[in-house]
Amino acid sequence: MPKLTRSAAWQALSAHYAAIKPLQMRQMFQEDAARFDNFSLRLGSLFFDYSKNRINAETIKLLVALAEQAELPAYIERMFSGEKINSTEQRAALHTALRNRSEKPVYVDGKNVMLDVQRVLGLMRRFSDAVRNGQHTGYTGKAIRDIVNIGIGGSDLGPLMVCEALKPYASQNLRAHFVSNADGTQLVETLKNLDAETTLFIVSSKTFTTQETLTNARSARAWLVEKLGDEQAVAKHFAAVSTNLEATAKFGINPQNVFEFWDWVGGRYSLWSAIGLPIALYVGMDKFEELLGGGYAMDEHFRSAPLDKNIPVLMGLLGIWYGNFFGAGSNAVFPYDQYLHRFAAYLQQLDMESNGKGVDRDGNTVDYDTGMVVWGEPGTNGQHAFYQLIHQGTRMIPADFLAPLHSQNPLGEHHAILLANCFAQTEALMIGKTAAEARAELVAQGLRGDALEALLPHKIFAGNKPTNTLLFDKLDPHTLGMLIALYEHKVFVQSVVWNINPFDQWGVELGKQLAGKILPELRDPDVASQHDASTSGLINYFHQHR
Ligand code: F6P
Repeated sequence: MPKLTRSAAWQALSAHYAAIKPLQMRQMFQEDAARFDNFSLRLGSLFFDYSKNRINAETIKLLVALAEQAELPAYIERMFSGEKINSTEQRAALHTALRNRSEKPVYVDGKNVMLDVQRVLGLMRRFSDAVRNGQHTGYTGKAIRDIVNIGIGGSDLGPLMVCEALKPYASQNLRAHFVSNADGTQLVETLKNLDAETTLFIVSSKTFTTQETLTNARSARAWLVEKLGDEQAVAKHFAAVSTNLEATAKFGINPQNVFEFWDWVGGRYSLWSAIGLPIALYVGMDKFEELLGGGYAMDEHFRSAPLDKNIPVLMGLLGIWYGNFFGAGSNAVFPYDQYLHRFAAYLQQLDMESNGKGVDRDGNTVDYDTGMVVWGEPGTNGQHAFYQLIHQGTRMIPADFLAPLHSQNPLGEHHAILLANCFAQTEALMIGKTAAEARAELVAQGLRGDALEALLPHKIFAGNKPTNTLLFDKLDPHTLGMLIALYEHKVFVQSVVWNINPFDQWGVELGKQLAGKILPELRDPDVASQHDASTSGLINYFHQHR
């Protein structure tokens, strides 16, 4: 049995939970004029307000004690120094080395990986500059106008989210497209609008064995050869990013257009590596390096700030507070910035693939909940869709609100309206509306008697719903880098407390294995199949009704 839930720190938090549970944040704010100052932090252009949480000073002390009991500071150092903390794959988890902007070496197996990191960054710069300034042309000599990234999971979500987020910094001469799904529709719809002569494909896959990616890459290759009428064209129109250089060569990609990364970079942590090539192409290498700089600034903070003043640590611990003590099952993320419209989708892989584990590092089945469901949409859209459930539903859904002080597109009153909504939502979630307040409102509206009594319960808001607010100056590359690294480290903090390995993903394998078995059965109805009745029934239905 894992020791966590019987540990002193956990037990202390359980007892504390009973004391905190009845407390109303609204009252805590009334009683403590310094609450906002005491529960907020600033790091560069980032401001973190965590005062609208169901906590007091004691909660933070006890949560920090839990992190200390889990030896978080030592774990942080183990990660940064390249120890093989991904124990089930015997690998380091060194995404931080990819954005290490210092001169300090980082060693894996006695080798300074910074030399490789710098070399590949140099290659990325050369290639992205050449494409952007028209030196690297397509086969017919025309400049590249469209980049199509073919990849899935970490080889898609990170670069896609960042390209969307940094659109204001993008070259006007380039468009970025992302194809991930095995569903041919995505590739077909993307290619419909493209000119093969001016299109560059980047096949991104850490393993270069991923079925969806290789299937899309083969179809894209066939499209290109058909359009340009010559196999030779592939060399000018295909690049690859992978750790598996043998497989990229076998696929026929010109070695000059192959960008390497290493097994110590996890897929969902890889946007900082050559997997970020579409970003470098789209916004330029200088901006990509500013993104790395933002990640590095967060790394330095994470590594050096005391635990109770450490933003990723606090965010991670607050997640544990709600998930393990209040029983919350999901964590919402609401960016009040349209450019972050894929942020929640990106975080889903980061968080759920990392912390979706039910067995601890020692192989024991855990007796506590681990990773939460992560979800979200940009504000204000969510307000008119699902916020109702957060305000008046039965489940607690802790939520992060993210917003820039300055819009990239100042337009009349839009930004003030956007932020008014953002601040109003966290306020409403926290203060709620008491029966007395709701009654007074209804009376003021002229309601009396039975009509008032019937409506009253529906007008009450319990409030006391926890939120974090992250404000930043503007969504520039540096700030985005900080935000991404912040969430990476938040996930890591939680994994350390839960004693799980956040860097493997064995859970996705079973479905892949079974798909490999079913595919021949779909190709040929005579292939014998052995499945449960439902799966066999679906396979038969497929054959009978096509
Ligand atoms: O199946 C899950 C996964 O392995 C992710 O972890 C990864 O990001 C994705 O597939 C894509 O893998 P690859 O980059 O090797 O194609």
